[in-house]
Amino acid sequence: MKVISDIQQMQAWSKEIHRRRKTIGFVPTMGYLHEGHLSLMRRARKENDELVISIFVNPTQFGPGEDFKRYPRNFSRDKELSKSCGVDVIFYPRARDMYPQGYKTCVDVEDLSNVLCGASRPGHFRGVSTVVLKLFNIVQPDAAYFGRKDAQQAIVVEKMVKDLNLALRIKTLPTIREKEGLALSSRNTYLNKQQRENAVILYKSLQTAVGMIQSGHKDPRKIIAQMRKMIKSRRGARIDYIRIVDIRSLTEVKRIKGRLLIAVAVFFGKTRLIDNAIIRA
Ligand code: PAJ
Repeated sequence: MKVISDIQQMQAWSKEIHRRRKTIGFVPTMGYLHEGHLSLMRRARKENDELVISIFVNPTQFGPGEDFKRYPRNFSRDKELSKSCGVDVIFYPRARDMYPQGYKTCVDVEDLSNVLCGASRPGHFRGVSTVVLKLFNIVQPDAAYFGRKDAQQAIVVEKMVKDLNLALRIKTLPTIREKEGLALSSRNTYLNKQQRENAVILYKSLQTAVGMIQSGHKDPRKIIAQMRKMIKSRRGARIDYIRIVDIRSLTEVKRIKGRLLIAVAVFFGKTRLIDNAIIRA
């Protein structure tokens, strides 16, 4: 397994792989790897000749006052886990090379980027789509793997790939959870024991919503009210949003029908957790 930090060197490596007519699978990450990341890596390993992951805590997707500085990092542990998943290359760039002085360009996937998490975190998805496009141009993958855990992110990236005619496939894989249901996230390390126990309510409320839809409820407001009640019953939970949206446009639905994304964001202390469920009504 190689670690490449130099952008030109990464591009040259990928060019050589393609010259030999081999495929590259790619998993972009911010590191502090957990089973969620590893599930993407294992799938990418199976479906491609070569497997590249990136580890880059991208400054431009964090807002002022967010957790960029204290985002958890552990490169030596990430290296071991990557090796165990059969990673061929870790692309590990420096921020000053990704965004040299005078850097000016960004990608904005309109509308999809300013709802849900984009409404609470202005500029977040512009940072994500821009860094993902840069990573695609550097790694030149045939397929890139994303987690459903960040459903809006995957939808924004798919739209960018379609609109900009990028020649790769995007695969979005299921959310990996702890036994009790809490979605794995690098940010879970911020939670104390009590918060961690209470955070299971995100998943429980989503399951309740799915159950209500399956048993024929049609009014999203009633479903959201039930979810709100459940979440508020947990000490220290502060709801950012609960929404039921059309999976394509991410706009709120007035009645339950079609393919829907139920998305929640809840603060426990300073830690903001997100989760979602996708359901066809
Ligand atoms: P990061 O949060 O490290 O996540 C990297 C990938 O792992 C994303 O596609 C995310 O959806 C997926 N993932 C995280 N938790 C998961 C879980 N519990 N189950 C399944 N997949 C999970 O998302 C980012 O980094 C960044 O925004 C990035 C795309 C790298 C751009 O900077």
